[in-house]
Amino acid sequence: MCGIFGYIGKNSNASKEVLNGLRILEYRGYDSWGIATKTNKKFVIEKHVGKIDEAKTNSQFFDLLSTLSIGHTRWATHGGVTRENAHPHLDCSRTIALVHNGIVENYEEIKKQLVKRGHIFHSATDTEIIPHLIEEGMKTNGFATAVRDAFNQLEGMNAIVVAYAGSSEIIAAKTGSPLVIGKSKDALYIASDASSILPHTKNLLFLKDNTMAILGGKVEILSLPEGKKEKVKFETVSWEEETSTKGAFSHFMLKEIYEQPRIIRNIAKTYKDSVLDLAKTIKNAKGTFFIGAGTAAYAGIAGTYFFSKTAGKHVNMSFASEFTYLLDFLTSKSLIIALSQSGETIDVVEPLTQVKRKGGTIVALVNTQGSTIYRMSDKKLLLGAGIEQAVASTKAYTAKLSILLMIAYAMKHDVENASSQLMTTALEIERILKESKKLKPIVDILTRSEHIYVIGRGVSYSSALEAALKIKEITYIHAEGLAGGELKHGALALISKGTPCIVFAPNDETYQSIISNATEIKSRGGVIIGISPKKEAIFDHWIEVKDCQDAVSIAQIVPVQLLSYQIAVKKGFDPDKPRNLAKSVTVK
Ligand code: G6P
Repeated sequence: MCGIFGYIGKNSNASKEVLNGLRILEYRGYDSWGIATKTNKKFVIEKHVGKIDEAKTNSQFFDLLSTLSIGHTRWATHGGVTRENAHPHLDCSRTIALVHNGIVENYEEIKKQLVKRGHIFHSATDTEIIPHLIEEGMKTNGFATAVRDAFNQLEGMNAIVVAYAGSSEIIAAKTGSPLVIGKSKDALYIASDASSILPHTKNLLFLKDNTMAILGGKVEILSLPEGKKEKVKFETVSWEEETSTKGAFSHFMLKEIYEQPRIIRNIAKTYKDSVLDLAKTIKNAKGTFFIGAGTAAYAGIAGTYFFSKTAGKHVNMSFASEFTYLLDFLTSKSLIIALSQSGETIDVVEPLTQVKRKGGTIVALVNTQGSTIYRMSDKKLLLGAGIEQAVASTKAYTAKLSILLMIAYAMKHDVENASSQLMTTALEIERILKESKKLKPIVDILTRSEHIYVIGRGVSYSSALEAALKIKEITYIHAEGLAGGELKHGALALISKGTPCIVFAPNDETYQSIISNATEIKSRGGVIIGISPKKEAIFDHWIEVKDCQDAVSIAQIVPVQLLSYQIAVKKGFDPDKPRNLAKSVTVK
């Protein structure tokens, strides 16, 4: 993860250009941030721990006259969250400034050698070795060759952006992690995503892995490791710059929860042709796999139930990070459906690279146009959820479920049925949202809890996993999602007097069995919070979610999104930017 932004151009306030870019990129990491601005053949550095808006930005720094600056928002991998570990990092002469995304797997060996040669390090990061390695190279070579040689020595998937005080160029190189170059009339930009460049230009070049770029008077692209010149091909994208403000809401997460009915209705009305087309692709494939990470993986699990029950079709699901170890099953006829909000998650990108080598077909169900997964897929369907800012995914999750349900129904040419179920679901979510204040007594109980268990069967098993994830992500309470039948095989040992347990009991084939599981918990003193259309006597607390037929998993997650949000706020946590997490995860 980490966000990179670089500017080189005619505007003499390069630092502010970079700061504005970093604000857009902060979803990629908000442990700390920093900027290096070149002025009078030296770098002036500004670094802070914490989020950008929490820092008292040094006005002198932002008043510097400069036309070249690079910056970074950090999500810590090597080395704690400290000012010293924040990027940019410098060499001994302080004339080479560098920002980095990725992990240098062989950094310890390189560091040892550099220490022997007298280099002094100030941070605990893997990154800091890179400017020193370039410094060594520059004893015998020019800037660009030294960057190339240094980068070629790094193992792992990395992206760097580096500037030298003695040159008016910015150089970038990558073997992983996205980098996009933007060219406007007066400037060149380089960033971790297109959205941070779109306010300036739509003329973009997505840097490929194993290439480097030299940004100066013009842009040059060279292959890695050789350094052969490659064609420089900018494309003008038609994407609109998407921005999102909180509006009247106190947090993005709450706003995004409230956007769900509108998004679901839009899918119900406008996705019919696209899902019929995808259904055809699935029918023609020999072996379909859903892959995703975090919330997207849980949407994939829900998808397997939709396909089994509605379409009578077996599909496989794998956590994307595990899929790399299951690739032996793949053939050129395999179909991989990649689920991802950001379209950048490295755990998804990595196995897809291997799928491409095997010749399988990739379908992207992503929320971000132009993202890495979007670009590497053979077919793509955007989620249409609009920009999702809060780290904990809400609307992108229900959008994925809505589309997967539509595809499952499209498999049996009954897409109208799915569409009408989604319309009912959107209405029901609106009702749940209107009654959100009623959740307060449950919020009070859960806020005091150290452990929460969530159970469901069938498609509600995926709801249980996603509900527990939402609770963990933003309230920092330990929560565990389980298949109802699994409870007695272990976790029941952890239930004692007062342990809260959320039970998804929709009006489907799982009802009787999940109520039996709830009874087992209740007999051990557990407190049952039932999410169901019916008020069972066994429930200590009841959250009503009316019958939404096969779309029930879309509606019944909403009360838990609200509960998690309200608990986080009650505990004084920032639900939009939970500790240790980032919205887009581009390191392994
Ligand atoms: C991160 C986020 C999660 C998200 C997961 C997958 O861990 O914090 O909220 O579910 O990545 O992200 P994706 O963008 O691929 O859906």
